[in-house]
Amino acid sequence: MQRIHAREYFEGEFELPGDKSITHRAIMLNGGSEGEAVITNALMGEDCVSTCRCMRALGAEIDIDGTTLRVKGTPRFRRGRELNCGNSGTTIRLLTGFVAGKEIDAMLYGDDSLSGRPMKRVAEPLAMLGADVKTMDGHAPVYVSPKKLCGADVTIPVASAQVKSALLLAAISAEGETSVTEPNKSRDHTERMLAAMGADVQVNGNRVTVKKSTLKSLDVRVPADISSAAYFMALGALKGKTLCKNVGVNPTRTGILKAFDLLGVKYRLLNERVSGGELTADILVEKTPMKGIELTGEDVPSMIDELPLVALLCAFADGESRISGAKELRVKESDRIKTTAELIRNIGGDCMETEDGFIIRGKNKLRGGDIDSYLDHRIAMTGAVGLIASEFGGNIYRPECCAISFPDFFEKLGIRLY
Ligand code: S3P
Repeated sequence: MQRIHAREYFEGEFELPGDKSITHRAIMLNGGSEGEAVITNALMGEDCVSTCRCMRALGAEIDIDGTTLRVKGTPRFRRGRELNCGNSGTTIRLLTGFVAGKEIDAMLYGDDSLSGRPMKRVAEPLAMLGADVKTMDGHAPVYVSPKKLCGADVTIPVASAQVKSALLLAAISAEGETSVTEPNKSRDHTERMLAAMGADVQVNGNRVTVKKSTLKSLDVRVPADISSAAYFMALGALKGKTLCKNVGVNPTRTGILKAFDLLGVKYRLLNERVSGGELTADILVEKTPMKGIELTGEDVPSMIDELPLVALLCAFADGESRISGAKELRVKESDRIKTTAELIRNIGGDCMETEDGFIIRGKNKLRGGDIDSYLDHRIAMTGAVGLIASEFGGNIYRPECCAISFPDFFEKLGIRLY
């Protein structure tokens, strides 16, 4: 349990850890390529460590020195491995597709939270390429058997970068051409990195087409993760002024800035530049009075991991906010509709769950109180922001799970966990 004190004012300049999605992909794709690559500013949170563990088991050599990784890849994976994906949905879903494409057998599993998350969404579309992927009643453990894959035209029902990427990673080894179409555009790091590694990739709106390709290893400099920066951006908006440096602002990830626009938050992007094929910028945010907003399904993919935090900001805004079309939150590391609504109520806010989102009545002041992380890293960090911005602070139970995506989150806040 950790006490979090309320603060009158919050100000600072922050270097945030590397992007989780890009780090996963840089390790996996280089791990499956001929040659050697260096990844710098990699996130070494627990989820990406899970990806390293699995790629090593499949035959890649990975040398870790702080946030610099040297990866010697292998286009032929070892057979018959048991791959422990820990808590990481990205690891298990992307690797299921990657392994299926290699025509080998493997078993993929994870912790209790991961074992409760849907895997049919990956197994079923992969079967359209000819893959043999069996789940336990739609969940991990997942068993992949060797099968030759053939390109297909696949439409997926939910916008999910994990499902799309699983298909694309299988597709680069499948005969012919594969297209994946999703209802809204999810993050596009996989298609960008595949193209940079020499794969034949075409993007047309929400449809990505890939031909059978061989990957060449690629050095990657990972930008800071906007999903991690978001907590410090929110503290700037609520309590003072923050500057987050070198943040990835790929347009498929910047929904939080759209939410800021609607809330009326004052922010500026400085030093916009392209680094390693990804747009980056420094983000300056200043305290602003906020007003209630409405978000719908098409807003969701670009802020999927920030929605608990956006809901928290709404709890501090003037008037009512409605967030809908966010049913996906129910199948994240926790049921984030339930855990976010409980978190907001426990610190004195007014948040009602709906089937696919929230109705939030904003208050200028929230008193604070005791909260649980539910072992979900994003809930732990959203909770810490809520308590710092509250009147009296409170306790947070099981905060250590922030190490999944942001190992030194509390240190950056000047809080030493004990
Ligand atoms: C991720 C995609 C998102 C996101 C997750 C990371 C990725 O999941 O929530 O934290 O790296 O592809 P979905 O694509 O399933 O929404």
